[in-house]
Amino acid sequence: MLEKLDTQSPDALLALIKLHRDDQREDKIDLGVGVYRDEEGETPVFRSIKAAEAILHDKQDSKSYLGPEGDIGFVNALMPYVFGNADPTMGGRIAGMQTPGGTGAVRLAFALAQAAGAKSVVLGEPSWPNHRQIARDLGLEIISFEHAADASTTDFEALKTAIADAGEGDVLLLHGSSHNPTGIDYSLAQWQEIARLAQEKGLIPVLDIAYQGLGEGIEEDVAGARAFLAEVPEAMVTYSCDKNFGMYRDRVGAFYVLAADRDVLDKAMSNANSLARANWSMPPDHGGAAVRIVLRDTELTRRWKEELAAMRGRLRWIRDTLGKAGTAGSVDLTPLASHNGLFSMLPIGPESIEALRRDHAIYMAGSGRINIAGLNEGNIDRFIAALGDVTA
Ligand code: LMR
Repeated sequence: MLEKLDTQSPDALLALIKLHRDDQREDKIDLGVGVYRDEEGETPVFRSIKAAEAILHDKQDSKSYLGPEGDIGFVNALMPYVFGNADPTMGGRIAGMQTPGGTGAVRLAFALAQAAGAKSVVLGEPSWPNHRQIARDLGLEIISFEHAADASTTDFEALKTAIADAGEGDVLLLHGSSHNPTGIDYSLAQWQEIARLAQEKGLIPVLDIAYQGLGEGIEEDVAGARAFLAEVPEAMVTYSCDKNFGMYRDRVGAFYVLAADRDVLDKAMSNANSLARANWSMPPDHGGAAVRIVLRDTELTRRWKEELAAMRGRLRWIRDTLGKAGTAGSVDLTPLASHNGLFSMLPIGPESIEALRRDHAIYMAGSGRINIAGLNEGNIDRFIAALGDVTA
């Protein structure tokens, strides 16, 4: 029976981790998979999380089941950061649950939309490759459009055309901030305009927030999403704590529904619960519990914000340095200074990407995406020189 299966190629991004690990060259540079790295090239556990884990270790007195919704204390503690302090439930119209990473939340959002009648996902591309994979796995079509018009602006006309091509009830996937992989985000005015267009068309928006705090600031990074949510009757939010709490392998995510009223919200959440039960039964607990402890403790929250601000500052320094370099060979680096978050796309082809790996031990995704966090004071000049070399 199983011989009937076709062999699947390994996920290209995840395969890069192994390729880089196996390279013995000491000056290798990893610009591949999206993890934050510090100036030493490490991805340490946040000190605030370590402290929360120590508390958890001491105080946790049971590991009994929690249910498909996971740690509701974690889900609620995150809400003011996502939806604002003033009214985090938007008048009782928002409810949420914990998910296995942001990926679990995206899966849940697409599956719930599909159960409600969605046939397609409107998706700006390039996007995080798993968006497309999850949609395809569920049997949803993709209505694709170009996310970026050039190296620093979104293609708003392309988005409008794609929305016009969608059917009522289809999903509109939007990156909350620090767009993966381009780093190019919508302006506040554009967020408001998209809300109007989505509503006119009767689309169900899914806002994927995976990098809060790594762009311009914790509040700034969700300003567009909040302005959007204020305008629409219903939406879903998928949230990842991978990067902004450094919880990668602990798989800490959350899923929120905004509904027009309490009855619809209850109905949607009952469906989300049974989808979660059928998919993973319940999310892993440890990471969510640690984030909850951080967010409920004033001192740990202060430390977390400080750690996040340091990460953001370092990313900004890298972007400024690349921007100031001007050009590297045929590549104009100046737009990178205006991008947000971990990622930017380099306009280079497979030969240059291969030459960077072969001749300079520099690893990046085959799409041309770089994770700028792999750069630091010790290697950034070498990266710029190598890029110049392969594109001269
Ligand atoms: C990335 O885009 O590199 C990260 O979000 C890791 C992943 O799961 O793909």
